[in-house]
Amino acid sequence: MRFEVLTLFPGMIETAFMNGVTGRAASNGIVSLDTVNIRDYCVNNYGSVDDYTYGGGAGMLMMCEPVYNAYLEAKKKAGDEACRVVYMTPQGEPYTQEKAAEFSKEEALIILCGHYEGIDERVLEEIVTDNISIGDYVLTGGELAALVVMDSVTRLLPGALGNDSSPDNESFSEELLEYPQYTRPGVWHEKEVPEILLSGDHKKVDQYRMREARRRTKERRPELYEKYLKKRGIF
Ligand code: 6GU
Repeated sequence: MRFEVLTLFPGMIETAFMNGVTGRAASNGIVSLDTVNIRDYCVNNYGSVDDYTYGGGAGMLMMCEPVYNAYLEAKKKAGDEACRVVYMTPQGEPYTQEKAAEFSKEEALIILCGHYEGIDERVLEEIVTDNISIGDYVLTGGELAALVVMDSVTRLLPGALGNDSSPDNESFSEELLEYPQYTRPGVWHEKEVPEILLSGDHKKVDQYRMREARRRTKERRPELYEKYLKKRGIF
């Protein structure tokens, strides 16, 4: 997987991505990250990339030309292949694990991060293939959202987690939240690890975990639990 990120803050993307599991995946050649600084495609000697909105109102809007020229550079770097262009926007389609799985099958993704009040609609119409939102709240820019997409996609790439089986059997891949987990010591602050987990009876352990996953999902995410029951024809 190759990520090409169009941003006004490349340092924010690079620093965060190059740490932890995503950083190791990059070092191992499983994924590559390249950023294009939209500021490098500014329209004048003052470095302007934004301007007032037609029709008035507060705030500035990113202009077509810097965004478009940054996009052309990213496309060239990605080998000029047809490549999805993902725009991080609160007006986008809600991001899910299914979308992450879909993106993880692409050869490359161009990710566009906006700032200020947004980007001139005309350049978005011309280049964007996917509008994605990471939730119903407002961020100051698309960078944190882009990192969410990049992280969730990278961990699905073969070899990225070291252990190939670990993306399964966890929250959302099985449509239930994960069961609680414990490690040593067996007693901490007078709290004991559930006895079943020490029994060595794998069948009992599996049943216990399934029960806890259902209980936790019903309590914390009732709408997810309903969906799970419906899918199994329970209601
Ligand atoms: Cl994807 N981008 C921005 N800029 N703000 C957001 C968002 C995305 N998702 C929620 N808020």
